[in-house]
Amino acid sequence: MKSKIKFGTAVNVSGLQDPKYKEVLSKEFNIITPENEMKYGSLCYTKDNYDFTKADEIVAFAQANKMAIRGHALVWHNQLPKWLTEGNYNRQELISILQNHIKTVVEHYKGKVSAWDVVNEAIEDDGSLRDTFWLRGIGEKYIDLAFRYAHEADPDVKLFYNDYGGEGIHTKSNAIYDLIKKLLKNKTPIHGIGLQMHLSLDGRPLKPEHLAENIKRYEELGLDVHITEMDVRIKEPTEEKLVQQANIYRDIMNVALGSNCKAFVMWGFTDKYSWIPKWFKDYGSACIFDEKYKPKPAYYALKECLK
Ligand code: G3I
Repeated sequence: MKSKIKFGTAVNVSGLQDPKYKEVLSKEFNIITPENEMKYGSLCYTKDNYDFTKADEIVAFAQANKMAIRGHALVWHNQLPKWLTEGNYNRQELISILQNHIKTVVEHYKGKVSAWDVVNEAIEDDGSLRDTFWLRGIGEKYIDLAFRYAHEADPDVKLFYNDYGGEGIHTKSNAIYDLIKKLLKNKTPIHGIGLQMHLSLDGRPLKPEHLAENIKRYEELGLDVHITEMDVRIKEPTEEKLVQQANIYRDIMNVALGSNCKAFVMWGFTDKYSWIPKWFKDYGSACIFDEKYKPKPAYYALKECLK
């Protein structure tokens, strides 16, 4: 399924040992995001000792299959190395650590990664700044600094702010929008917004018209928009629920295709390696292929949209 909009998935490095995983991945997608291997704790488990082996493996696979790569994620509050979170660093030291991390990683992947999620999930559901390791240590300035350091390291790579639950029009998405506008006003080098899109069959549905309105306001700011981590989790899947799931994937893809959205990336393509069952009790079946790589109605719905 290849199309003008980049169509992709997160890649789980264990999957690359699985021939069927590699076959489907290379056949169906033209953009990938390493699911965990480019995070701070994965790359720099021991202080001053970067190990790019696993991330490089994913990058090599993508390059061999002519896929674009989204780098994920330079600054996040999760999956940080212990030496950092348990260390005792003052503000100036933390700024140096942040700068060094971003420089090391972005320079390593210069010319290979086409977009970076520079800051991930900095806003809470109530619209306030998330109380994180970085906010506590550096203050709000960490967001601006992160983008500046990434731009210094690779002036050609597109830099994104990425978040979940900010897809429609509501308190959180308005707060994200305000943050982005503030960064732009401050001449922070930011080029795009990532809408993660972790959805569920239960709960409040995302209205496609709200998504379209949200995408439009970012395009009016001159930013690229990517859907970065889509999945639709289901409790006790039935055929009927899989059809409802397909409808959600279709609706989101149609909004993306009707806008200037440049990438539609899912957080995994097969339930075999999906993060959902480990994180949401009783939920699963969130991807477009099942554990045995059998395409679900959602796969055919997307295929139809991308024709
Ligand atoms: O690598 C260790 C392994 O050595 C250890 O034996 C094993 C024991 O549990 O854990 C492994 O680490 C796990 C890691 O995934 C790699 O599999 C962590 O425990 C687990 O917490 C981690 O979960 C990841 C999660 O981010 C962490 O917050 C998920 O796979 C990953 O899908 C998820 O991705 C995030 C995006 O980065 C940002 N947006 C939300 C999305 C879903 O939470």
